[in-house]
Amino acid sequence: MKKNTLFYGDCLEVMRKWDDNSVDLIYLDPPFNSKANYNTLFGTQSNGGDKNDLAQLTAFTDTWEWDGDAEKRVDLINSAIAHPAHRAIRAFKEIYPDGSGMLSYLSYMAERIAAMHRLLKCTGSIYLHCDPTASHYLKIIMDEVFGKGNFRNEIIWHYQTGGASKRHYAKKHDAILFYSKTDHYTFNPQNVMMERAEKSLERAKNPKGARIDASDTTKLPVNVWVDIQALNPMAKERLGYPTQKPLALLKRIVMASSNEGDLVLDPFCGCGTTIEAAHSLKRDWIGIDISAYAIEVVRRERMKDLDIELAGVPKDLKGATDFAERNPFDFEKWAVTRIPGFAPNTVQRGDGGIDGRALIYGAAKEEHLCIAQVKGGKPNIDSLRAFFGMIAGGKAAIGVFITLEKWDTSSVRKCIAQAGTLHVGAKEYSRLIMYTIDEHFQGILPNMPALAHPRTGQAFHEAVPSQPSLLNQ
Ligand SMILES: C[S@@+](CC[C@H](N)C(=O)[O-])C[C@H]1O[C@@H](n2cnc3c(N)ncnc32)[C@H](O)[C@@H]1O
Repeated sequence: MKKNTLFYGDCLEVMRKWDDNSVDLIYLDPPFNSKANYNTLFGTQSNGGDKNDLAQLTAFTDTWEWDGDAEKRVDLINSAIAHPAHRAIRAFKEIYPDGSGMLSYLSYMAERIAAMHRLLKCTGSIYLHCDPTASHYLKIIMDEVFGKGNFRNEIIWHYQTGGASKRHYAKKHDAILFYSKTDHYTFNPQNVMMERAEKSLERAKNPKGARIDASDTTKLPVNVWVDIQALNPMAKERLGYPTQKPLALLKRIVMASSNEGDLVLDPFCGCGTTIEAAHSLKRDWIGIDISAYAIEVVRRERMKDLDIELAGVPKDLKGATDFAERNPFDFEKWAVTRIPGFAPNTVQRGDGGIDGRALIYGAAKEEHLCIAQVKGGKPNIDSLRAFFGMIAGGKAAIGVFITLEKWDTSSVRKCIAQAGTLHVGAKEYSRLIMYTIDEHFQGILPNMPALAHPRTGQAFHEAVPSQPSLLNQ
């Protein structure tokens, strides 16, 4: 278990390899079964980020279906009498006898929560961040896995953002379920004292009402948190990752439930809020995320001043070839983000095999879209021709076709020649670019115009090839 490392992959697979009783604090903010796809939008400062732009991407998806994998998961837990979540899943199966998206989600979470219990030290705590969509069911799983007696709090995080409704009360809170592994757990309320309300301080000045010292402006922390706001679109700390949580929220949890030098794990780390909180408070940390995009945001933006260790991503061509065989879809996402400026599709969207998109910085709107297609196996000329067809048909200004190794035949050269060139400023670029993962490992980037950052729209300063820090994996 390498500390201060960012792992790319499914947290269940990653956690499986680690020793029992090794982590002091776990915070998890998993998908909530919100039935949403969390989109981020490309936007350049010049075009203002038009929502209808073709270049929308899904950062991650939170829609659960009852499928073969879900059925297998439920059967497995159902037939394993010693599985910590056995009784909970059996009960949910009674509620959803024919399966459902909710049962699929709950069995997915049960597998991972059980793994987290194994990893937690006896003095450790876990905070499960969720919302009312599934918090009632998740609490049952947590009760089973951690023991009802180790339930410490349901923290209500109240925020002002979100909409209003005439059909029900506006939804303004998340729930954070706090459990310890045993009775002897780290808890430092003195580190997270809260401000007393003006009214109680006023009352304290009245000798009849005084139960507290009026000069004591702080109080022990309570389980309703109203003083930390959700990030608004203008918030300075915002990295644009959907569902990003405020740093203050994570700092409170880390300060209360760990000490300096402890190890903090976030198995669904997103854009790394927990990592930053732990690092700034002198804790060790480990972050895991299944999205290549999230990993890039943490590494290239949130923790850009640190040389962060990465695990689970290939380090050479052989590793990349294995990765492509083992997990083609994840490989595509990883491969496409080797070119700074490209953002991957995270769900297959039936859009003719486009695996990633980027925008040319400063180009006219109709000419700014670049697309990429990744071939992890042996490429064939038909797929290249279909890709070329999209470029020739005006779907994109430039297309990058990514293969593992060099692929150079007369048919490939013919496609490149037919695709023609594009002028950006004084320079001329090929509209169909062949790029290899082999080149990536040699530190070579495709010859392309400067691309816009996928979310801020800022340029990667120079033309992409002079960005060595972005090349080192
Ligand atoms: C709600 S977001 C977390 C946001 C995070 N707290 C932050 O402040 O940025 C949930 C994250 O879980 C990730 N995820 C979903 N399933 C996962 C899995 N099995 N293993 C690891 N990460 C997963 C998603 O990619 C997404 O980034």
